[in-house]
Amino acid sequence: MTVTTLVVPAGGLGTRFLPATKALPKEMVPVGDRPAIQWGLEEAVASGIHRAVVVTAPGKDLIRAHFASDPALEQILESRGSRELAERVRSIAGLCQLEFVEQLEPLGLGHAVLCARPLLEGEDAVAVLLPDDLFDGTPPLLAQLLEANARAGCTVLALRRYPRESISRYGVAEVAGDGPVFQVTDVVEKPSAEEAPSDLAIMGRYVLSREVLDRLDQVAPGAGGEIQLTDAIREVARAGRVLGVEFVGRLLDVGTLDSWLATNAAIVWRDPVLGPALRERIRELEAEP
Ligand code: G1P
Repeated sequence: MTVTTLVVPAGGLGTRFLPATKALPKEMVPVGDRPAIQWGLEEAVASGIHRAVVVTAPGKDLIRAHFASDPALEQILESRGSRELAERVRSIAGLCQLEFVEQLEPLGLGHAVLCARPLLEGEDAVAVLLPDDLFDGTPPLLAQLLEANARAGCTVLALRRYPRESISRYGVAEVAGDGPVFQVTDVVEKPSAEEAPSDLAIMGRYVLSREVLDRLDQVAPGAGGEIQLTDAIREVARAGRVLGVEFVGRLLDVGTLDSWLATNAAIVWRDPVLGPALRERIRELEAEP
């Protein structure tokens, strides 16, 4: 099973990040020197995927604009001698083959993937990446899941341990066996702390088999009244065809204002150019009266 296509759900309203995301798509907030969604696509490309279907919503045209080629801008940069910057701008449009589809109503993550399904015909499995979760590590998180999929040929979830108090923000997996690659025996979307079957939360990377894709239109509204991807995965997990990978590396959230601020600090702190510049600027600010 070779996975060649990525689905990027990017149709959410960004309500957890208002008012900053009233007009700006939350996927376009900058992290370091590029928008959050670009980090996600770069991770996919580094994992060997070269085609992505981005599921946007009406009014989120800035995402498409960011990945479109802009010869006029490149020419201006080159005429000013900024050849390296011109090359970086050019490389964004050439990152991978991008296709866009609109999710007309915010009906949930499962519904977003369902909107992409007409563009996934003929695919035995696809990768899914939620751009709210930014991965910083080696090998790329998606590559870690793809490796498990290449060996087992089934659906694969990314798992991370969370304390019981915060687990109800996530989908949670019931697992069997020893990690870091578990057999997932059941999944539940946003359970209460008491009902959670484990402390292993499902994070924003998936490899979904055709079986899961085919189930999406039979899923009834679940947690929060939304069509949940977790619910499409449940029966396949109960039938023994889902693995979960407790991955290595940092996963940084950019879905809320405070997590985005912290993620920017974490990413920029380690950046060889931006890091020293930030520390210098902070020293200057602290010296101000
Ligand atoms: C979604 C999924 C959830 C998962 C989470 C990871 O929830 O439905 O299972 O744990 O992403 O970020 P959302 O964050 O869209 O509420």
